[in-house]
This record gives sequence, structure tokens and C-alpha cells, in this order.
Amino acid sequence: MGKNMTRKIIEDHYVSGSLVAGEEVAIKIDHTLTHDVTGTPAYLSFETLGIPKVKTERSVSYIDHNMLYADNKNPDDHIYLQTVAKKYGIYLSKAGNGICHTVHFERFSRPGITLLGSDSHTPTGGAVGALAIGAGGLDVALAMAGEPTYLKMPFVVNVNLHGKLRPGVSAKDVILEMLRRETVKGGIGKVYEYTGEGVASISVRDRSTITNMGAEMGATTSLFPSDEIVHEFFINEQREQDWIKLGPDEDAEYDEVIDIDLDKIEPLVAMPDMPDNVTEARNLKNIKINQVFIGSCTNASYTDFAKAAVIVDGKVAHSEVSFVVAPGSRQMYLMLLRDGIIGKLVAAGARIIECGCGACCGIGQAPSTDGVSLRTSNRNFKGRGGHLNAKLYLSSPEVAAASAITGYITDPRDFYDVEMLENIIEPDDFIVDDRLIIPPAEDGADVEVVRGPNIRPMPINDPLPETLNAKVSAVRGDNITTDDITPANAQFSALRSNIPEISKFCYGRIDPGFHDRCKTLGQSIIVGGENYGQGSSREHAALAPMYLGVKAIIAKSMARIHKNNLVNYGVLPLLFENQEDYDSIEMMDELEVENIAEQIQTRKVTVKNITKNTSFKTKVDLTDREISIIIAGGQLRYVANKNK
Ligand code: F3S
Repeated sequence: MGKNMTRKIIEDHYVSGSLVAGEEVAIKIDHTLTHDVTGTPAYLSFETLGIPKVKTERSVSYIDHNMLYADNKNPDDHIYLQTVAKKYGIYLSKAGNGICHTVHFERFSRPGITLLGSDSHTPTGGAVGALAIGAGGLDVALAMAGEPTYLKMPFVVNVNLHGKLRPGVSAKDVILEMLRRETVKGGIGKVYEYTGEGVASISVRDRSTITNMGAEMGATTSLFPSDEIVHEFFINEQREQDWIKLGPDEDAEYDEVIDIDLDKIEPLVAMPDMPDNVTEARNLKNIKINQVFIGSCTNASYTDFAKAAVIVDGKVAHSEVSFVVAPGSRQMYLMLLRDGIIGKLVAAGARIIECGCGACCGIGQAPSTDGVSLRTSNRNFKGRGGHLNAKLYLSSPEVAAASAITGYITDPRDFYDVEMLENIIEPDDFIVDDRLIIPPAEDGADVEVVRGPNIRPMPINDPLPETLNAKVSAVRGDNITTDDITPANAQFSALRSNIPEISKFCYGRIDPGFHDRCKTLGQSIIVGGENYGQGSSREHAALAPMYLGVKAIIAKSMARIHKNNLVNYGVLPLLFENQEDYDSIEMMDELEVENIAEQIQTRKVTVKNITKNTSFKTKVDLTDREISIIIAGGQLRYVANKNK
């Protein structure tokens, strides 16, 4: 049998382990990327490893998330990132150059490489045939240090695309359809490989919308073949030398096949508060909106804005709608300016925000109290827009643009002659200008790393005790997101390099007493429902609880990146063997695990509930290596012990 793309790339980068789906494999990483929020802790961790220069082919540090200079914190962090990059052989993409995922596939990525990024939307790079995986900052720090990356060998799903999208329907609707079918946890442990005759009608930018939001299904990554369309893109990026043809073998083997008829897809919208809560835009025509945001690493391409501009041309945004626009990269921003597209959007009342994440993660442009925001971004969890009292809907730029004018969620086909959108394609004459990408020093030995007062050393966990006795500091429901644990808003993310301060916000939005309770308890255990820790890769969601003394999380199921982050920081992730046991636990119950090190080796851990005088069984879904890391007290201690 032939090989799929995932298998080919993993075999090319194989270091050790098993190539059987579900088992652990270690691979070599070619590229890494970080952004300013996850990058600061990643580089603080990298510095503790004492390595003079990164060992990857290319590592890039992006400044794209929090660019609000309201006090010294962000500008100080940006100087830290710039100097640490210069010293250790890392390229630095300055604030204003664009969103990490967009810029990386425009200017650095290439088909067939492995890319590890400290952001859950790193899979965006699958649009050009790179195996691009999101991870915690510490994993990225270790990859920069030349350590292999460990992952579960994925199950590979072939998404077979038939036909062609109709006018007014876009790539965003394809991935919303996937989410409707697969749900937010349907992709766990899987790679989605898109093939079929329908692939040829989808541009690289539109492919990146689909690979980007594969993260919302919990997938390890998503991949498109590197075909003539990708070749053309590399020619336009003036990087033809980086292109290779890459695709699955004709008779490639897959674990599962999904068929999608592109002609049958409708304009879709994800309703609050989950990206898989999807319905047709036409079903929501009575929903009045207060804000429209076109931007983010999902939908901020040239054609996204060109189509939006055609739809709003000559009209003006509804009087009660704040119309916000943020191009994904400086390259596209310059092209949109050159071609008069930004002018049309401004004429229609759009507020142009700098290239970056901004509104997508609640850094600026928060909706009003109880406001309804329609966004082209990828996440609509409660609070993602900056506060809990807003309702976030997700759609394509076409739906967003039509809705900005009408003031209600609008299917573009009911508003505009969408046949006109058919001819809108990205022009060939890209503007290529890398002057906002700062290369590292040839020899970084003499470069001084500048640290502002908000940059504090990384806390390091203690080794696992023999017996864990701790009270339950929280019992959480299903689908707790990393945004629930540590929000991504401006105030929070400005404290990213200061764990003692950031821990004050841990769970603050849904449980204001959490920080003080943990401090009083000294050490504690969190109990969670299904899909605990889904969403963003934010490792602060593991770091802050660890700093507050959380020793273990016992959940019904757990999101992959969050589980990795917990392991990295020495917090024990346990899964209920019988889910009904979840109901027997209450906050402040005293739990005890004896001989933990011995028990976790057997992959079964018995937890005594001292308060209730009962006990229950949990499973340990960890490899031998991960168990050693947990016992050591986390990766930093583990790697230090290994290198002694
Ligand atoms: Fe940024 Fe939002 Fe993407 S925070 S990296 S634009 S998911």
C-alpha cells in the first residue's frame, strides 16, 4: 500500500519510537515559531538550558499578539524578545509585520518540513504541505535545543473534496461543515489530509483557512498537497527554490475517509460559545449584531478583504455596527493598499487595526456588554472577545461583510449578486519586503539580553512526592478552555513573563476565589469534565495552576496540548476510569494517592476520597518518558537531570 503525506513526512523526520497510530513517536523538528505571548516563557525556558545557539534549521519569534503599549510591560517584553532572538540565532518578525502563522507560510515554510509552534493554530502551515504542529512553549524551547519532539503517531483521515464551492460560499464554510460533523473533539489524535479533485479549486490562502481551523477539532494537524497551486504561490513569494511537489501516493492508506461535496455547502455560522455549534447563516437572519471583525490568522487574506470590499462598496456599515478590519500580514496589507481595497473598506466605515491578532483574542475591540459580535476568526468561547458578557458568532468574510451593512446576520446570497465574487483572485505581483524580519547576530556571544522589571524567572515544580494528599480546589464542568483557565486578554497577556502576577488571574473569570483558595490550601487537585483544557495552546494554563500548587488534574478527558503542558510542568494528568465517579467528588474533598510513582507505572491509579471514605480508579494515558518527566517534577528538571 502507498503512503499518505503524514507518513512520508514523519518517516523523513523519524528519530525513535513507533509508527503505529496511537503510539509515541519522536521526530526531528526543522522550524519553530513562537509569538510574544507564548514566546517569552519559551525563551526564558530555553535560556535555562544553557545552549548558545538554536539547533533548528529556522526558528522565528513573532510579535503579533499584544501590541498595546499602555505601560512598560509589552514594550519591555518586545525588547527582551528582540535581544534574546539576536543572541540565540532566532529571526525576529517585528510588531506590524503580521500574524505568526500567516507570515511563516508566506516567508519561511516549505513543503515537507516539520514545524513546531507555540500556538495551537500552527497547523495553518499545512496549507503549503508542511507538517505543522502546535505545542507548548517549553516543547518549542526543547526543539530549539535540538531535542526531538514526541507525539502520538496520528490516525490519518482522508478528507476527499468533490466538486467546487458555489459563489458566496467559501473555505470557511468548508471547515465549519467539518466542525459540524466532527465536533470540537473529533480530531483528537488525527491528521486531516485533504485530497480529491476539489482541492484544485481552493487557493493556498483558502487552504490555510481550513488547516488553521482544523485546530478547533483538536486535530494534531491538517495537510494539503503541495501541488501546482502551491508552486505558483512560492513563485509569487519569490521563493520558488523552496518548493517541492509533495502529495500522498495514488494508493495511499488512510484510517478513515470523509467525503465532502463542495457544491452542497451553504454559508455557515458557528453560534456561541463553541466553534462546532454550526448552522446555516439563513437560520440566523433575525440575529442583530453590534460588531463585525474581519481578520485573524483564519481569514485575513487578500481575497478575504477584496471580496468584503466588493460587497460593501458604495455602502456604509449599519449605524449600530462597529466594523473592524485587521489584515493578516504586512505583505497583504501593502497589496490591499496598493490595489485600493483598504480605501473601499474605510469608505464603508471600517476601522483598520494594525496587522496582528488583536480582537481575535480579546486584545482591543471588545464587544459591548451583551453585545453580539460576528467574526471571521476561529474561536468563540465565552470571554474570547475580552469579557464574558458578549456573544461571538463565527463566519466567512462574505457573511461578515454583508452583515456589517445590514446589521443582522446575513447570507451574502440574499444581499448581493455573489456571481461577481467568482472573479476575485489574489494577484500574482506580491509585494515582498522582509525588512521587518530581523536576522540574528552571526555570533551572539556578546549580545546582552535586555530584561524589564516584568520579566521574572520561570518557576520550577518539585519532584512528585511519594504520597499525594491534597484537597480539591475546583470541580469544573465539560469543555473547560485554556481561556477559562488563563484568559488571553490585554491585561492578562501583558503579564505573560511574570507567573506570580499572572496566577492571580487563574480561573478568575469563572471562579474569582480560586487563587486565594489555592494559596490557602498550599497544594491541591482540580477535577474536570470532558475535553478539559481545550482551545489555545497557552501553557500559562498549566504554569499558573502549577505555581498555585495544583499537583494533579483528574478529568473525564483532556485536550492533547494542554495535557502535554501539564506534563511539561510536572502536573499529573489522570482520567476517570468510570466517568460516574466524577459526580461523587465535591470541592474541598480530601483526596489521597499513595505510592504514586509506583502506581503510575502500571497506568492505573487508585485515588482515595478521605472525606467521603470511598475510592475510585483513574487511568494514566502517559508514555514511559512522560512518566519520568512527571516524577522528576517537569521537563526543566528532567532535561537537567539527563544532561548531568
Ligand atoms: Fe492570533 Fe487569533 Fe490566530 S490570537 S494566532 S489571530 S487564533
